[in-house]
Amino acid sequence: MDILKLVGLMIWLMLPAYLANPAASIVIHLTGQGKPVDFGKTMNGVRILGDGKTFKGLFSGIIFGILVALLQNYINTIFLDKSLPYFNFIAVLTLPIGALFGDLIASFFKRRLKFERGQSFPLLDQLDFVFGALILTYFLNSVWFSNNFSFKIILTTIILTPIFHFLTNLAGYKLNISPKPW
Ligand code: CTP
Ligand code: MG
Repeated sequence: MDILKLVGLMIWLMLPAYLANPAASIVIHLTGQGKPVDFGKTMNGVRILGDGKTFKGLFSGIIFGILVALLQNYINTIFLDKSLPYFNFIAVLTLPIGALFGDLIASFFKRRLKFERGQSFPLLDQLDFVFGALILTYFLNSVWFSNNFSFKIILTTIILTPIFHFLTNLAGYKLNISPKPW
């Protein structure tokens, strides 16, 4: 498989997870801060998750990711003769849900390691949602996962995601959506 095909296939497979996180960020930017998932509670004096993880962000990210996967299925069926991977019912849910929960879990560890909300944690920030999406899909949708996520695809995802993430955040920062360019 040539490299462009591999990258294209990887983006197609990861798109529901890729778009779920920025959707959370954009919704918060447009509608204002929501109720934090940790209800403002602390653990040993430090916030459990922090103000960067809200219910509004969580649900809007998940719903947007689901809509992306459904739209991809529609395009794939109507226009592409199902030539690209089709997201089965579980994948439609596990990719965005795993992405948002991976991000939530990463914030839990960031707070424990005394990283402030929004403070950069290289690689964890960029890969938390990838691992969340892949791991949840692997466990709940293992046949679909192994049919679609070859070792090559997983490796391409891990290598290219931090680069894509940086570029989108830079765009978000320039558009005043992301508070930091990372
Ligand atoms: N966001 C949210 N709820 C989520 C995920 C994201 O409200 N579950 C919104 C927040 O406004 C957050 C922004 O999207 O600030 C960017 O997300 P992220 O970079 O994951 O959060 P950070 O603010 O960097 O916080 P942390 O240090 O905990 O990662
Ligand atoms: Mg962040």
